[in-house]
Amino acid sequence: MKRVVVLGSTGSVGRQTLDIVRAHPERFQVVGLSAGSNVDLLAQQIDEFEPQVFAIADEAAGDEFLARDRRLRSACAGLGATALCDVARVRADIVVNALLGYAGLEPTLAALEAGTDVALSNKETLVVAGALVRHAADATGARILPVDSEHSAILQCLRAGERREVRRLILTASGGPFRTHSREEMRRITRQEALRHPTWSMGAKITVDSATLMNKGLEVLEAHWLFDVEFDRIDILVHPESIVHSLVEFDDGSVIAQLGLPDMRLPIWYALHAPARPEASFATLDLAAVGRLHFESLDHERFPCVALAIGAGRRGGVYPAILNAANEVAVAAFLDERLRYLDIPDLIDTVLKEAGAPAPARLDHGAIRDADAWAREVATRHILQGCPTGDPPC
Ligand SMILES: NC(=O)c1ccc[n+]([C@@H]2O[C@H](COP(=O)([O-])OP(=O)(O)OC[C@H]3O[C@@H](n4cnc5c(N)ncnc54)[C@H](OP(=O)(O)O)[C@@H]3O)[C@@H](O)[C@H]2O)c1
Repeated sequence: MKRVVVLGSTGSVGRQTLDIVRAHPERFQVVGLSAGSNVDLLAQQIDEFEPQVFAIADEAAGDEFLARDRRLRSACAGLGATALCDVARVRADIVVNALLGYAGLEPTLAALEAGTDVALSNKETLVVAGALVRHAADATGARILPVDSEHSAILQCLRAGERREVRRLILTASGGPFRTHSREEMRRITRQEALRHPTWSMGAKITVDSATLMNKGLEVLEAHWLFDVEFDRIDILVHPESIVHSLVEFDDGSVIAQLGLPDMRLPIWYALHAPARPEASFATLDLAAVGRLHFESLDHERFPCVALAIGAGRRGGVYPAILNAANEVAVAAFLDERLRYLDIPDLIDTVLKEAGAPAPARLDHGAIRDADAWAREVATRHILQGCPTGDPPC
């Protein structure tokens, strides 16, 4: 019986994690849950899974929730961001971090510092503070198990050889809904179109990140920190069917791939059990039914977010945190229809250029927090002043 904490239990990955728990009550016990603001769904989850503790990040929603249902007060770790860290520190075998964005960083650190393994879906954690997170894991011996399907695939492929024999990692990318769009067509992309991903069903932010391919750029940084591989040895391969989840090329030229249906429950299941592979009941891959698989190179000109992310990763220091914050602000504005699709990379580029100064020699938590806050402020100011491209206001 594994004691599991699910942070972000009301989101897409959080709900799929609880689907797995629901289907296997003999394997898992939920000891902690957290929501952002969807307190109605959280209430159902608390009734069903009876966690020892829960937290609500949105304080106003949390106050209302606790006023409505006083009997839950004793299990409430608190409201706001710090309460999530308290839930992450509860005695557990694994913390599934399915939080969205920068908010995932502190709870990841809290769990690792407590010596608890983290099944990490929140890629922003490693993007903004990869070195700190690695250090926290190394200090206690807690493991970081990737939930992202690409990184789960890489982790599995790496078992085919020695680490020193790895030539390169190859992350696959579906290419998103605009894989074949020209720049001209991209000018007219709407929020609804960006939210229609061809192969995966996910939360809104990662769906937009997948449409701009920023998601793939973030994943390169995530792979760099997870597997300790330099940026030059991490490639991207566009694969529209999302069946080959990623590959590893070894020194002898052999390429090992991991395949499966595009179903997040598979990498979640692996993260919950790795390196074991207990029998699961998900639909299995029928390659004859799939028929053909396609692969193509990434067009960096039409998808500039990838180079922006890798560029920030190479510069290191606080630049990835600045990139991430600018992207979070840009995507939120795009979802609110205050920014156009093509303005997203332009805004991020503008904020990174404005950052200008060299990265601080010592990268600590405070420097990352300051960089995050600075980038959000600058990105927001640019949106209020009009589009970063100088075009008419959005
Ligand atoms: N969805 C996928 O298939 C998938 C695949 C690979 C990786 N990922 C990664 O997994 C993470 C979660 O993605 P998702 O698609 O599951 O997102 P999502 O559906 O938007 O869910 C996000 C979860 O985080 C909570 N949350 C949002 N903002 C928060 C904040 N400021 N503080 C505390 N909690 C907050 C939400 O709470 P409320 O809903 O209650 O407000 C929800 O429980 C992202 O990093 C994403 O890149 C997702």
